[in-house]
Amino acid sequence: MSSQPRFSITREALIHQLYEAAELEHNLMCTYLYAAFSLRSGTAEGLSETEADATARWRRAILRVAVEEMGHLTAVWNITSALGGSPRFGRINFPLDPGALPANVVVRLAPFSEAVLQHFIYLERPTGSTEPDGAGFSPDFQFTRGVARPRVTPMPVDYETVGKFYETLAADLGSFVARIGEREAFCGDRNLQISRAEIDFQGCDPVICSKTALAAFDAIVSQGEGATQENADSHYQRFIAIREEMKALRTANPSFSPAYPAAVNPVLRRPVRQGARVWLEDETAATTVDVANSAYMLMLRLISHSYLVPRPHPLKALCIDLSLGLMRAMAPLGERAARLPAGPSNPECNAGMSFTALRDSAPIPPGTSAGKFFVERLAEINDAAQSLVAAANGDARVTQAQRVLADLTRRAERGFANLTTELPRTAVAATPPAQSAPAVAPTSGSAVIEPGNVAPTPRTVDGVDYIEGRDLTLIYEGKKCIHSRFCVTWGPKVFIANVKGPWINPDAMSTEALTEIAHVCVSGAIRYKRKDGQPDEAPPPVNLISVREGGPYAVRADIRLDGAPAVSYRLTLCRCGASKNKPFCDGSHNEIKFAASGEPPTGKADMLPVRDGPLAIDPTIDGPLQVRGNVELISGTGRVVARLESARLCRCGASNNKPFCDGSHTRVGFKSA
Ligand code: FES
Repeated sequence: MSSQPRFSITREALIHQLYEAAELEHNLMCTYLYAAFSLRSGTAEGLSETEADATARWRRAILRVAVEEMGHLTAVWNITSALGGSPRFGRINFPLDPGALPANVVVRLAPFSEAVLQHFIYLERPTGSTEPDGAGFSPDFQFTRGVARPRVTPMPVDYETVGKFYETLAADLGSFVARIGEREAFCGDRNLQISRAEIDFQGCDPVICSKTALAAFDAIVSQGEGATQENADSHYQRFIAIREEMKALRTANPSFSPAYPAAVNPVLRRPVRQGARVWLEDETAATTVDVANSAYMLMLRLISHSYLVPRPHPLKALCIDLSLGLMRAMAPLGERAARLPAGPSNPECNAGMSFTALRDSAPIPPGTSAGKFFVERLAEINDAAQSLVAAANGDARVTQAQRVLADLTRRAERGFANLTTELPRTAVAATPPAQSAPAVAPTSGSAVIEPGNVAPTPRTVDGVDYIEGRDLTLIYEGKKCIHSRFCVTWGPKVFIANVKGPWINPDAMSTEALTEIAHVCVSGAIRYKRKDGQPDEAPPPVNLISVREGGPYAVRADIRLDGAPAVSYRLTLCRCGASKNKPFCDGSHNEIKFAASGEPPTGKADMLPVRDGPLAIDPTIDGPLQVRGNVELISGTGRVVARLESARLCRCGASNNKPFCDGSHTRVGFKSA
C-alpha cells in the first residue's frame, strides 16, 4: 500500500472517511442480498434440474459474499471505535444521489441479471482490471468530489476502485498515527468493539494499534474489493465464476431466466422524483417489504447498541444474537417480495425489499429503557408478521420469517429480563417442562429383585418421577435418558432393570454412592435433591461439551438453556437432527444410524482465563445451537478440540464442518420443530 499521505489528516477527517467506508460496505451488502433474493429456486419456479442446482449455488455464493461484506463493515466499525469515534450504522436510501460516492461507483438495488453480475464484477475489480461496468450502470454524469488543498472540514476523496479507497485510508491513518502517536490515536475503549467472541466473522478482531487496523484494511481488500487477480476466492473471482457458468447455461437454453424481475430501486411511498424508483402499490408486497425493512432497521439498532456495551457482557452477545436472528427473518421476506407484483403502475416488474434505512440509527441510550425498546419493537414486528401469515395463503417463506420473529421476541423478553434478574435454579417441587412417563427402565438386563428390596412408588409430575428416599429425593426424567447404563451397572440394587412398576429404590445403597451415579448420568435424566442437609450437586469447575461418536453433545456446565437455568448441570443435546424431543437427544441417532466422528480435529485451544460460569445454549429456529460462555469442546475420548467463548454447533447433522455449523441446515431444509 502507498504510504504517502495527501495532507495533514485529523481524527475527524479519518472518522469521516470511515463513515464512507461503512456506507460503502453496507450498500454493497444490501445490493448483493437484493440480487440473491431475486434468484429463482427449484424446478417449481420454472428451472430445469441443472439450472435449479446452479441458482441454488449462486444464491449461496452471493449470500456468502454479503456476509463477508458484513464482516468488512464490522472491521470498519471496530476501527472507528478504536479511534474513539461512534461507528456509522446508517446509510442513505437507495438509489444514492450523485456525490454520495465517486462518480464511477454507482449503487442501486437491482435483481440478478447478466448486467448486474457484471456490475458486481466491476465494483469488486482489482486495480488494473479492464472489466467494464454492467450495461445500464454508467453514471449520469462525471464529477470530482475531492479537493487538492487541505481543509479543516473533512472532505471526501475520489477513488477509481474500492481497493484504492482503502489504500488512501491506510495512508491517512498512517499519517495521523505518525503525527500524534499510537497511544493517542487509538484511545477508544477496545472492549466496546465487537470481537469473535460475539460473532465469528472475518474482520471481528479487536483493533488496538495501527498494525491491527492496517491488517483489517488488508483483509478487506484481499477478500473482495481490490483483491489480486490471482486470488481465486475473492469476491471478484467468485462473481466471474458465476458469469462463466451462466454463459454456459444460456448457451444450452437461451430462454434460461435465473431470476424474477424484481423492481430496480423499490420504494414504499410515492417517490418525489419519478423514473429511478418503483413505488410498491401492491398491498401484499408493501406489507411484506414493510416487515422485512423493520427487521433490517432493528438489526442495525441492536448492533449499534452493542457498541455501547463493554465486553465481555451477556448484553452485548444478546444484542448481536438478536440482530443475526433478524437477518434470518428478513431473508425469506426479501425473497417473497421479489415474487410479488409491484403494482398496476409497474406491470413489467415485481416488488423487492427496499432496505429503507432509519433516519438515524444511533444507539438507544443504555439502561432498562433500551431493553424495553427492543422487546417492544420486536413484538410489534412479530405482530405485523402474524398479519402477513394470515394473508399469505400458507407461503412457507412468510411462515418461516414469523416463526423466527416469534422466537426472537421470546428470547428478547427473557434475555433482557435475565440481565437484571438472574432466574433461580428450578426447585424440585417446581413444575418442570412437560414430559411423558418413561415406558421402560433404561436398559435390558437380568431382573434382580432381592427380598426386602422394595422400590417405592414415585410421584410423577409431567412425566418426571420423584422417588422419596431417606436422605434424598431421586428424580428420574425418562424422556431425557440416552441409555448410558451407568445407573443399572453401578447401582443395580437401586436401579432394578426389567421390572414392571416402581423400579428405583434410593435407599438400597449409600447416599454418597448414589449421588456419584447421578453425577455420571450424562443426559441429566437422573438428578437428586438432598434432604439430609448435605449440599446438592454443584456446578462443574470447567464447562465441557463432549462430542460423542455418532451421538449427541454431552454438556456438563451451569447451563442456561433457551434463556432459563436448566434443571440439571448435565444434558445431552441432539446433533443428528432426528430427535423427536429437540433440543434433547432421545436416542434417534441410533435409529437413523447417524455417522459423525466423535474425534473432530483440534482447533483454537488457548487456555481460557475463566473456565466456568453460566453457559448459555440457545437452540435457534431451524438452525444451530448458539453457545455463549466459557466452554471446552472435547472429543469423545476427552481430547480438547477447542476452548471457546462462543460457538454455533451443528444440530441438523449435515454440516461438513462438524461439530460447527456451516450453514448446511438451510441446504437440507432442517426443521427444529
Ligand atoms: S445446524 Fe447443521 S449446519 Fe447449521
